[in-house]
This record gives sequence, C-alpha cells and structure tokens, in this order.
Amino acid sequence: MIDKINSEKDFPLIKIHFPLIHSTNSWAKEHIQELNPLAFTAISADEQSGGRGRFQRQWVSPKGCNIYVSYVFFLKNLGEEIGNIPQLLAVAAYETLQKVIPQVKIKWPNDLVVHEKKLGGILCEVVKTAQGWGVIVGIGININMPLEILKTIDRPATSLMVELGQSIPIKEMEEELSHHFRKILIQFFKEGFTPFLKTFKNSLIHKKDDLMKLSDFTQVHEGHFQRINADGSLTLKLHDGVLKRFVSGELL
Ligand code: BTN
Repeated sequence: MIDKINSEKDFPLIKIHFPLIHSTNSWAKEHIQELNPLAFTAISADEQSGGRGRFQRQWVSPKGCNIYVSYVFFLKNLGEEIGNIPQLLAVAAYETLQKVIPQVKIKWPNDLVVHEKKLGGILCEVVKTAQGWGVIVGIGININMPLEILKTIDRPATSLMVELGQSIPIKEMEEELSHHFRKILIQFFKEGFTPFLKTFKNSLIHKKDDLMKLSDFTQVHEGHFQRINADGSLTLKLHDGVLKRFVSGELL
C-alpha cells in the first residue's frame, strides 16, 4: 500500500506480459490480490479478445498493432483526486507521443486525439482490497493499426501509422510511456495535480467559448467551454448563463 514514496526505488516497475488476454484491465481486476501492493505493475498484451472501453464499449484490439497496457498500484484511501489519475496518464502519453506526432492533443477528460480522430483512450477502474484500494488504469494507443481495421470502428479513429505513413516500434513506445507515467505519478503523490495543470490545459483541443455537448451519464448538457479548473474539472456556461462544473463525463 502506498504511503510515502521518495524515489522510483520505492515504487518498482513490475512487468507482466501476455501474447493474448481477454482484457488487461479485467485480468488486473481478477488478480488484484496477487499483485505487489507496493509496486507499479504494468500488465500488457499483444492482443485482447475482449478489450473494453469507457461506457461499456468495445476496444478494438487486434494482434501486434497497438499498445494495450494496464497500470496497477494501490492506495490506502481514495479521494476526489482519483479523477486526476487518468488525466495524468493522458499527460504522460501526450508527452511521449508528441515526440513522434506533434499534432497530438487531449480531448477532455482523457482521450488522445489527432485531427479530432481518436488515437488512444484510457479506462480507470478501482477495486476495494483487504487493505485499501487497487487502482487499475488502462490505456490503448493505436500505433500500427491499418486503415481497414480503423474503418470498422464506429467513431472516427486513427493510428500513428496512418497519420505518419510509416510504422512505429510499439515496445519502445510502451516502455517509454511506462517509465514516464511512473515518474509523473510519483511527483503527483508528492505535489498533487498543480505541476501538471499547465501541460494538461495546453494539450487540450478545446478553446474558450467552444460550443460543447457533454454527457454526464444521466443527461446531456449543452454550453460553451469556459475553463479547466485547478482540479482538472471542466466548467461550461450553459445556455441560461449558469456556470456548471463537471468532474467527469463524455464530450459528444
Ligand atoms: C476508451 O474508451 O477510450 C478507453 C479505452 C481503454 C482501452 C485500454 S486497452 C488496455 C486496457 N484493457 C482494456 O480492456 N481496456 C484498456
């Protein structure tokens, strides 16, 4: 259970890899009690037969094309800042991807997009354990997925290969992402979200006063984008002039 982390030594990276798994997030949930409560575990796969996205959607996960990885760590208590964990992974992925594709952006709260098409997504889940909470934060990034497969996805999606016209080494990128996310997390445990706020804001595709439709799982709200708050939440100005803050949701 994470109490105090002073260095990367206190938070060792443990890797578990499967050639084929139903879902790295689901595997982590099923095996949570077997994972080291003091470590940062990365569970990856070459292929997922039942890859899951947010809102019960399928995550298309063909063999050897993409990054599929779930990071697991354990917390004693769960506070509001849990909402920042997927945002931090989005920042880590954004900074890693920027080196190969400067056009990458984040769509609030944590989608990775290029030219408004989805390049990657993040699914964060928490599980109660005997001593606290297991946090499972999974990311899928479309690296070398060909156009034929991208076209089968029911919303606009892209891959690095399609955008760049060349294939990209998957393992190297995943390795870099894992180390970068772990580093960012350690800083977050010490200093909170403040050090990441500027990068998060600058990475977003949204501009002040953009018209937005946001589903909060029960209803759709329409309004103009006002700001990202210090805690990573988003404020919309609704049509009746009321300012409404959202900590989660989906932009339609
Ligand atoms: C989204 O809907 O945007 C979230 C997609 C998350 C996909 C990743 S791939 C690795 C991990 N395992 C899963 O089944 N889902 C996540």
